[in-house]
Amino acid sequence: MAKLTSLALLVSALASGAFSSPAPHSEANHDVIHKRDPQRAQAMTVTVTKTVTSASVSTVTKCSTGTSSSRPQTSTTTGRTTSKTSSTPAAPTSTGEPTYDPGTCTWKVHGAGYFANKKEFTFFEDGLPDGLYASNYVVEDTYAGAPYNHVFEGQNVFSDGDFLNLKVPGVSNPRPNTGYAISSAEIVTTENNILYASVRTNAIFSTVPGTCHGIFFYLDDSQECDIEYLTDPNSQSNNIDTQSSQGAPIPLWYSNQAIKSGTPATQATGPAPYDVTAVHEYRIDWTKDFTAFYLDGQLQKKYTTNIPNKPGSWIWNNWANGDYGWSAGPPTQDNVFMIQNITMYYNTANDSNGCN
Ligand SMILES: *[C@@H]1O[C@H](CO)[C@@H](O)[C@H](O)[C@H]1NC(C)=O
Ligand SMILES: *[C@@H]1O[C@H](CO)[C@@H](O)[C@H](O)[C@H]1NC(C)=O
Repeated sequence: MAKLTSLALLVSALASGAFSSPAPHSEANHDVIHKRDPQRAQAMTVTVTKTVTSASVSTVTKCSTGTSSSRPQTSTTTGRTTSKTSSTPAAPTSTGEPTYDPGTCTWKVHGAGYFANKKEFTFFEDGLPDGLYASNYVVEDTYAGAPYNHVFEGQNVFSDGDFLNLKVPGVSNPRPNTGYAISSAEIVTTENNILYASVRTNAIFSTVPGTCHGIFFYLDDSQECDIEYLTDPNSQSNNIDTQSSQGAPIPLWYSNQAIKSGTPATQATGPAPYDVTAVHEYRIDWTKDFTAFYLDGQLQKKYTTNIPNKPGSWIWNNWANGDYGWSAGPPTQDNVFMIQNITMYYNTANDSNGCN
């Protein structure tokens, strides 16, 4: 699991002084990635604070720790159908909008190529639309030194009539009957064979401190690209340049996890919207050659290293394990990541080109 790897890397890196050598980087933003690699950041924090108190030592985990290979395939899908797979042309609403090409039976996404499938998810009614399921499993974060485990529970995934809510409850948390795991929320696409995609999520983030919101492609910890948001402004990963940046605006993290274990991820932060409680569009384009991360249609980062190359699923989650290096928390009030809708253009490993 990634968190074990992170801890092992951290320990060995601290011992060997490995962090004094430059970290590999994407071409998007050398300095930021160099400085803001969470393992580096965490290592520096540990070095600074260890003479003060060992309690400030924590491990860096990431949203992907919610998606270990032990993830069971159980589902709480309620079987309602509100999603649709489009097979008919739709007029472009503006330049830059994807267009359907009847010649090839594919959707053309500007800059990202052609995709055989389109799916839209809305959440006006109870239950999850066909094509998504809620996770139910425990993630054993404490093995890597986090204060708590977290547990994805279907009861934290529900529609309020407009938005899909992914809730980390602020009370009774963590509970003995779930092994003191922090109750968390996750949805996953039933399509687990996605190979390249353009996925747009219109969502509202929580301002209650103490969770990680994740939007990501995932097969395993070495085949993953993420947009992540840490709702506690004082998470060490939100304040990694200097101690004095405590309380600075919360950034978005954009990552391609390391394809090869033991090598650095490709990741950097970028500005989050100033009003995360309004709906914004968070988008990942994933092609054979690059990942590109967009906020409200504006390119934020483009990476050409650590590009996932195997098929998997798309995941949205909200979780906490008490780790001040990353999610912090648990929140003391309900923390809800609210998804208005999701539009996915994608290919699967089974799609052949053309109209067949
Ligand atoms: C999704 O939400 C966005 C932002 O509110 C809105 O513009 C768009 O029409 C919605 N799409 C669907 C399919 O409901
Ligand atoms: C679809 O693709 C997967 C992954 O490449 C493969 O294992 C599977 O056999 C394919 N299924 C069909 C029906 O072609």
